[in-house]
Amino acid sequence: TIHPVVLCGGSGTRLWPLSRKAFPKQFAPIVGNKSLLHLTLERLATLNRTITCVASEEHRFLVREAIENAHAQGRQILEPVPRNTAAAMTAAALLAEPDDLLLFAPADHHIPDVALFEATMRSGVEAALAGKIVTFGITPSFPSTAYGYIEAAGATGHGPSHAVARFVEKPTAAVAQTLILQGNYCWNAGIFLVQARTLVAALRTHAPDILATCERATAAVSVDGSFVRLDREAFEGCRSDSIDYAVLEKHADVAVVRFEGAWSDVGSWNAVAQLHPADEAGNRVSGAGSVLNSRNTFVHAPHRPVVALGTEDLIIVDTPDAVLVAGADCAEQVAEVVRMLAREG
Ligand code: GDD
Ligand code: MG
Repeated sequence: TIHPVVLCGGSGTRLWPLSRKAFPKQFAPIVGNKSLLHLTLERLATLNRTITCVASEEHRFLVREAIENAHAQGRQILEPVPRNTAAAMTAAALLAEPDDLLLFAPADHHIPDVALFEATMRSGVEAALAGKIVTFGITPSFPSTAYGYIEAAGATGHGPSHAVARFVEKPTAAVAQTLILQGNYCWNAGIFLVQARTLVAALRTHAPDILATCERATAAVSVDGSFVRLDREAFEGCRSDSIDYAVLEKHADVAVVRFEGAWSDVGSWNAVAQLHPADEAGNRVSGAGSVLNSRNTFVHAPHRPVVALGTEDLIIVDTPDAVLVAGADCAEQVAEVVRMLAREG
């Protein structure tokens, strides 16, 4: 059996004002009327309806609602403070049985082909049971600096599972360009299939401090129904690092399985826009948004009519208490807006 573990603790600041500290993007209805977390849980439920979520204490009821809406079940490991993906995954691995086959998945990706997703995940099982950390590779479409890159050892890396020659997390634009041109690199989908014991052993080698603090944080959990709370004092003392930097870039025994379906890390407003069909002039709208005599304009308007007239290369996002109007090429800078607003209090 595969045990899915969803990492729900990100803040998604590039999707402001939809994504807020108290209500990050993975909980917001983005596709149809469903949140990305809801869709993620539905997708994972095809493998196993019992799903562990690792989430922030403050979001436990939002997570519980999504679990119910997706007709799934399972416990939540609650973090008193965010300490990034290495700590979240370590805590989950320590709270599982050593032989458990864990499928770590981000909460905020859009992967519409559920059947292909399920089959691809299952095709990684053999390598994971052989002691490898199995990653999933996406064919890159541009030299993104927001993703990890995986070099498959040997030819093109297509077909079932392959040994990984190199893992490069978030390269510079220049490096990303050269990796893309080599042709044997794919993007890391951020999904990992691994036995709990394998991950713990890898941490012992590459990040013993994270392992030690998480051992303390999980030795003293308090269980309250389906909520499993990590020890605050121990977990607060944990180093904040991503699993990609802490383990994957350093680990030798990594395999990659290609995922050939559509995949989107819905990380910026441009990525959200791509989820909606474009008209002849490249405009996209959601909800009650509409456009007239406009080009390449995206209007996100879930609550009330918002009309763009004669606009070009624009992102317009309406929420009940804040509005974003941004140039289409500024989507990656929205996180700076959030930092600016935080400074201004
Ligand atoms: N529980 C918990 N606690 N979850 C967290 C935390 C945390 O402190 N930090 C992040 N997460 C969750 C996020 O909500 C998301 O679902 C997932 O972990 C990945 O974190 P991101 O912060 O979104 O990572 P990233 O997108 O920058 O990079 C990762 O994903 C890329 C693909 O989307 C890396 O694995 C890259 O290599 C990869 O290409
Ligand atoms: Mg992400």
